[in-house]
Amino acid sequence: MNFLNINQLKAAELEEIFQLADNFLIPDSNTFKQDPILADKKVLNLFFEPSTRTKLSFEVAAHNLGMSVLNLDELSSSMQKGESLEDTIEVACNLGIDACIIRHKESVIHDLANQFPSMVFINAGEGAISHPSQSLLDLFTIRQNFDQLSKPNYLIVGDLDHSRVLASFLEALTIVGAKNITLCSPPELGKNYSAGPNFDEDLNSALDGKDVIMALRIQHERLEGALNISATDYIDKFQLNHQKLLDAVGHDRFILLHPGPVNYGIELNADVKDQDYCKINQQVMNGVGIRMAILTKALLS
Ligand code: CP
Repeated sequence: MNFLNINQLKAAELEEIFQLADNFLIPDSNTFKQDPILADKKVLNLFFEPSTRTKLSFEVAAHNLGMSVLNLDELSSSMQKGESLEDTIEVACNLGIDACIIRHKESVIHDLANQFPSMVFINAGEGAISHPSQSLLDLFTIRQNFDQLSKPNYLIVGDLDHSRVLASFLEALTIVGAKNITLCSPPELGKNYSAGPNFDEDLNSALDGKDVIMALRIQHERLEGALNISATDYIDKFQLNHQKLLDAVGHDRFILLHPGPVNYGIELNADVKDQDYCKINQQVMNGVGIRMAILTKALLS
């Protein structure tokens, strides 16, 4: 099966993926075991936008599952000679490659999936539209810290409009039945959300009583012009720092997430980095287990 978006999954299937990842986890550790159940499969990474953690964790996940991992770089491929992406996928099919993991600034993956039914397609980031594997590892990390995903009070703060992470995360929260979700951003980065009842431009009031706080990076690469808000104003009003969290949240059971990459000094002050509530490294580690689970489900279903 293809793994194209979160909405294709029901709550029971999300839980199935989490349990698969749980089973890959080495007990009492943050690492995932080698389990070469896909040793006869080949996977091709096709990343047309930059990535560190998604690309590397899909590679580590595939290696852990015994897969052959191939990488094709657009700049050194025959796409430089005018070959289309469709023809590139056809070559991959003819070479016996089983799955393509694609990150692209456009929504190309859906047409490719229709065009090449023998290939398994896995979405590793689709413009500002979706990032389903990220939302699964985010939920998996929350699930390690809270009993029920529907119960926490959620806050997402930062560049809402350009975040594919937010789009998929909100879909995933709906599937697991989360209802208490607050969004916070400067108006110019939250136009798609500011009319909603759960939008709060004031970070201090938005933080009050929250259990799961996710910060988002300003996606400069997707902005059409300069921001009106200055860096100083942004930091003053929207940056999360240790003292602001302690003062405004009102309890000490909260966790802090960020999908990365983090621009420390902008959306997060570096003083949050080593705090127990900061689960950013745990998110990165969980990327391996969740992507092992996604590859397993996609290739063995
Ligand atoms: N979270 C995320 O997608 O990070 P990368 O861009 O480094 O893959």
